[in-house]
Amino acid sequence: MNDQLVRVNRDRLWDTLMRLAQIGSCHDAATGLPGVRRLALTDEDAQARRQVIAWMREAGLVVRIDRIGNVYGRRAGTGEDLPCVLMGSHIDSVATGGAFDGTLGVLGAIEVVRTLNDYGAATLKPIEVGFFTEEEGVRFGTDMLGSAVTAGRLTLDYAHKLTDDTGASVADELVRTGFDGPEHERRPIPFAYIECHIEQGPILAAAGVDVGIVIGVQSISWQRLELRGAAGHAGTTPIEHRQDAGLAAAAVIVEIRRMCESGQFGELRGTVGRLAFEPAQTNVIPAGATMTVDMRVPDDDAMTAAEAHLAEFVAGLARGYGVTGSLERMAKTRVVRFSRDVQALLAATADDLGLPYVKAMSGAGHDAQEIAAICPTAMVFVAGEHGGVSHTPREYSNPTACGNGVDLLANAILRLANQPEGSFLGGS
Ligand code: GLV
Ligand code: MN
Ligand code: MN
Repeated sequence: MNDQLVRVNRDRLWDTLMRLAQIGSCHDAATGLPGVRRLALTDEDAQARRQVIAWMREAGLVVRIDRIGNVYGRRAGTGEDLPCVLMGSHIDSVATGGAFDGTLGVLGAIEVVRTLNDYGAATLKPIEVGFFTEEEGVRFGTDMLGSAVTAGRLTLDYAHKLTDDTGASVADELVRTGFDGPEHERRPIPFAYIECHIEQGPILAAAGVDVGIVIGVQSISWQRLELRGAAGHAGTTPIEHRQDAGLAAAAVIVEIRRMCESGQFGELRGTVGRLAFEPAQTNVIPAGATMTVDMRVPDDDAMTAAEAHLAEFVAGLARGYGVTGSLERMAKTRVVRFSRDVQALLAATADDLGLPYVKAMSGAGHDAQEIAAICPTAMVFVAGEHGGVSHTPREYSNPTACGNGVDLLANAILRLANQPEGSFLGGS
């Protein structure tokens, strides 16, 4: 097939997205909306995995699973020994998720394969669809886990030993859910990777476009902070004698906000998303507080400075509050810049499709930032509604925007899959 443009089946794509959203569907108390709760390697995730694998097989893909539970489906090329062209994302969700985060990239990729089948389009290179384990990091504490193992940034052993709040390990949960792939299972050796993903932010909507081309992903730092003070009676302990870990936690939260607003750390965004006091009783001064700190900034030096400042502030809590603190690393990724060649190919393809686009840096983390270490990579963003909110059931992208994004994915993948070996044509 030469340079004919293909169009995906938008109704089929939408129907598949809505069907997957039924798995793990739950009532979200905060919004009153039906949301998606499909934490990695839970029963809901396993059920969704089986459904997606069934769709992969129906589309003619040959499925394999690796040792970290990443799933790949392969469509043969005429040059079977050539490296594959890979697309995909994740199907796990946060506890209060929507229907699009990750799933658009995976189900969109399956729709691309279905579309190529409809067109009878053979390709030179094989095409693979992948979905990666625990992209969200919500259950086991490290984001982009499966793709980081594939890319070699994290070892399989490290990943297997991570545990959730109940002590269940990744290794055990892979076995329990039946997604511990065989020892020999090979990693993909991609020629290139493209991930389509809902933007999860306001840039595309503000520009009035359905699609974006992603230039990279900002640095992400996740730390766990444990604060230790002393318990005491709420009514009798004089204020000046307290070692209140709760108060110190509040000071940390306020300081993180101040750091973000100070301009000292570039465009830093900081979030304390989890906080637990101990012993957590109305009339007892908190002896302990455990919290997570999520910091993001599109500049590695700014991240280094922000982490150093936070560490210094935590050390100073002993002086100000009589509380000691220790920071533990959960995850950290540096700024990633995507392939200019793949971006150029996407831009030329968008032009050919008549799709206006903007270029944007990603505020969210993505499997693509890991896969970028092993092959030329870029991403397609699809506009979300309601200001692009995500990680809430209010996350929504309309069928037209999703169809346009997956059309761009389909045609870019088709071009990559038919480029002669050794060449990399960025433009059209
Ligand atoms: C992944 O969704 C992230 O936290 O950016
Ligand atoms: Mn995602
Ligand atoms: Mn997410």
